[in-house]
Amino acid sequence: MTGGTRLVGEVAVPGAKNSVLKLMAASLLAPGRTTLDAVPDILDVSVMADVLRGLGAGAERDRAGGRIVIDIPEVVDATADAELVRRIRASVAILGPLVARRGEARVALPGGDAIGSRALDIHMNGLTKLGAVVDVEAGVLVARCSGRLQGASIWLDFPSVGATENLLMAGALAKGTTVIDNAAQEPEIADLCALLTAMGARIDGAGTSTLVIEGVEGLRPVLHRTVPDRIVAGTWAIGALMTGGDVTIRHGRAEHLGIVLEKLVGAGAVVELVEDGFRVSADGRPRSIDVVTLPYPGFPTDLLPQVIALEAVSEGISLITENVFDSRFVFCRELHALGADLRTDGHHVVVRPTPRLTGASVLASDVRAGAALVLAGLMAEGTTVVRDVHHIDRGYAHFVENLTALGAEIRREPSSVAAA
Ligand code: UD1
Repeated sequence: MTGGTRLVGEVAVPGAKNSVLKLMAASLLAPGRTTLDAVPDILDVSVMADVLRGLGAGAERDRAGGRIVIDIPEVVDATADAELVRRIRASVAILGPLVARRGEARVALPGGDAIGSRALDIHMNGLTKLGAVVDVEAGVLVARCSGRLQGASIWLDFPSVGATENLLMAGALAKGTTVIDNAAQEPEIADLCALLTAMGARIDGAGTSTLVIEGVEGLRPVLHRTVPDRIVAGTWAIGALMTGGDVTIRHGRAEHLGIVLEKLVGAGAVVELVEDGFRVSADGRPRSIDVVTLPYPGFPTDLLPQVIALEAVSEGISLITENVFDSRFVFCRELHALGADLRTDGHHVVVRPTPRLTGASVLASDVRAGAALVLAGLMAEGTTVVRDVHHIDRGYAHFVENLTALGAEIRREPSSVAAA
């Protein structure tokens, strides 16, 4: 891409990656056809569909229409394909539904982004509390339970998104009451609660840190629309501010980005609510802001790389603190190659202003880092080449096409190289 253009125009935000993958896993709880709408056209959805097919489900996808219909048989297989599971972290979300429905689940330790150690102890301890016997056997997580899971009170050590979701889905079919305390409160979890409730689950406290689930004996398939992707919306908002642009973000839910938009306003953005979305505009160089990531409603870790890229082109010194993952800063090396002045220390990074970024060839190490490098490239003098953009495909549908529509000079080259 060639740097120097403002992002101007309108972009539509699809359903959230981090929701739809769990909604797909939740379909395992109900035999029959579950239909999901606002499904983003991203790679991870294809992989998750293959994971479900491997368990004996049907999965028919209308990519252009953003719909997937998942057909769950009466009896699903309990063993997930190891190679597919290792490709996406979210595949661990099949653990809870499988053990609840089948009394057994064998799921290889999942993969996903290389952004930290990403342990599964909170998932495993929670399922154990619900009466499952959980072990790791030769790299495969095995959970077994004879008869139905039993409701229990579970206090999470950390409000883990994935563990909250797994325990929520397992608790939905457990016998008796399950209470999850210190639960994650992300909008994607509220979305999962909405799907489960429509399926017949009895859940109190959706969107809060205490979830109370009265287990039921069975659930029925439904039609559900995925919540819009707040991380994609936030990425466009940061892009608008960084480039001094003006972008209307349709389907963006400002209420899911409270602290993010407040920070961007502090950095000089003008944020305006519009029908079915919001608009972010800016003029001139952004002011620096300090950011601390925390579980929702704190500043999302998934917008951390994008905000570091923003700070790299801002005026003033900024201190960024990452509290959720332990190796999210690997991407700083790539940003440094574009001329950013960054110093990392433990879970902090100090970003100092530089007169300009300059184009270079850089590597996307994960989905959000990839998006952040593209935004930085839009501000760099000369040509920037971002390699390994298959990572971006995991979470951003039609990223290059959207950027082009907003005025960026960018093109995608075959063999997963995006250049411009
Ligand atoms: C999900 C999102 C990811 C987002 C993250 C935090 C998906 C597919 N991914 O990831 O994009 O960045 O939430 O908002 O939805 N942890 C443990 N033990 C556990 C579980 C987690 O120590 O059993 C740790 C992790 O290593 C990490 C932290 O808790 O340091 C947060 O993890 P978690 O909230 O579980 O994130 P994910 O569900 O993996």
